[in-house]
Amino acid sequence: MVAFAPGRANLIGEHTDYNDGLSVPFAIEQGVRVAAELRDGDRVNARAIDRGEEDSFALSGDGKRRDGWADFVRGTLGELTAAGYELRGAVLEISGDVPAGGGLSSSAALEVALCLALLAVAGAPKPADRVALARLCSRVENDWVGAHTGLLDQLASLFGESEHALRIDFRTLEIRPVPLRLGEWRLVTVPSGERHSLAASRYNERRQECERARIELGLDSLRDARLEDLERLPGPLDRRVRHVIEENARVDGAVGALEAGDLGQVGRLLDASHASLRDLYESSTEAVERTVMRLMQGGAAGARMMGGGFGGHVLALLAPDARPPRDARPLVPSAGARVLSSQRPSR
Ligand code: GLA
Repeated sequence: MVAFAPGRANLIGEHTDYNDGLSVPFAIEQGVRVAAELRDGDRVNARAIDRGEEDSFALSGDGKRRDGWADFVRGTLGELTAAGYELRGAVLEISGDVPAGGGLSSSAALEVALCLALLAVAGAPKPADRVALARLCSRVENDWVGAHTGLLDQLASLFGESEHALRIDFRTLEIRPVPLRLGEWRLVTVPSGERHSLAASRYNERRQECERARIELGLDSLRDARLEDLERLPGPLDRRVRHVIEENARVDGAVGALEAGDLGQVGRLLDASHASLRDLYESSTEAVERTVMRLMQGGAAGARMMGGGFGGHVLALLAPDARPPRDARPLVPSAGARVLSSQRPSR
C-alpha cells in the first residue's frame, strides 16, 4: 500500500483557524509518501528514507517520546489505536519533498500519509471520515509533538482539489472549493532561509494570547470579536485580536476578488495580510521581511509570509510581466491525500 499526502500553501487567512475563523489554503504538488507492507507481530518498523534513520514502534504508539519525525509516527499510531482502529504490524518507508520547517506543512503531510497507509494496509473496511482524520492528526501535533496548531494544514491536505483553493470556515467546518483561475498569473513561494519549529517558536505563545483575549472578552471564540471590543483589551492582546477580525474579512474579500477575476485586488489583500502579521501579530522576522522585499522588487502583485510565521516560506502572486527572484518555485494547487495503490492485503 502506498499513500501520498500533499503539503499546503495558504493563500490568505493566517492564525484564524484556531480562532474559529476563515482561511483559503490549497494542497500543493509536493508531499509525503508512505509505503506500507504487512509484517508479522504487533510492531511497526519505520524508515525515514531521506534521513537514513529507522525506528520501531508498538501499535499502541507506546507513549515514549523523543524528538523529531519518530514522534509523528508514535503519535499517529497512538491516536489511531485510541480511536478504535484495528491496526496491524507493518514495515513503513517514508519519503517526501516538502521542506521540513518551511511553513508548507510537511508535518501534516506526514501524519495524513501515515494514517492513510496504516489504515489501508490493515484492510480498514470503509474509508475513514476525513474531518475525523484531520482532528486525529491535529491531536498528534498538539498532544504528542507539542505544537498547539489548528486544523488548517490537515484539512487542506485531506480535501485539496486540483486548480482550486478551499474556503474553510473553522467554526462550522464547511469547506467550499474556490476555483483558482489565474490565467497567465502565477503563485510562487520563496524560502526565507529561516527554519521555524512550531513547538519551539512563539506560535504557542500567540495562541495563548488569543485564548487570554477570548476569556477577557467573555466570548465563545474570537470569531465573535468586534472592532469596538478592542478598547477593552490591554496591549498586545488588542493588536492580536484586530489581526484576527480583519484577517477574516480579508478572506472573504479575497474569495470575492477571485470569483470576480480581480487578481490585482487579491494581491493587495495579500500585502495587507502580511502587514498585519508583521505589525499586529508580530510574527515576522528580518529574513522574512528581506524575502518579501525581494519579491516586491521583482514586481509581485502581493507577497506575504505563510503558515505559523517566525520564518518559513513567503507566498507571492505574480502578474504575467513580473520577474521573480531565481529561488522562486511555482505553487500548483493540487489534489488532496490519496492511496495510490489499493490492492487489498490477503488475510
Ligand atoms: C500553522 C498551523 C496552522 C495555522 C497556521 C497559521 O501552519 O499548523 O494550524 O494556525 O500556522 O495560520
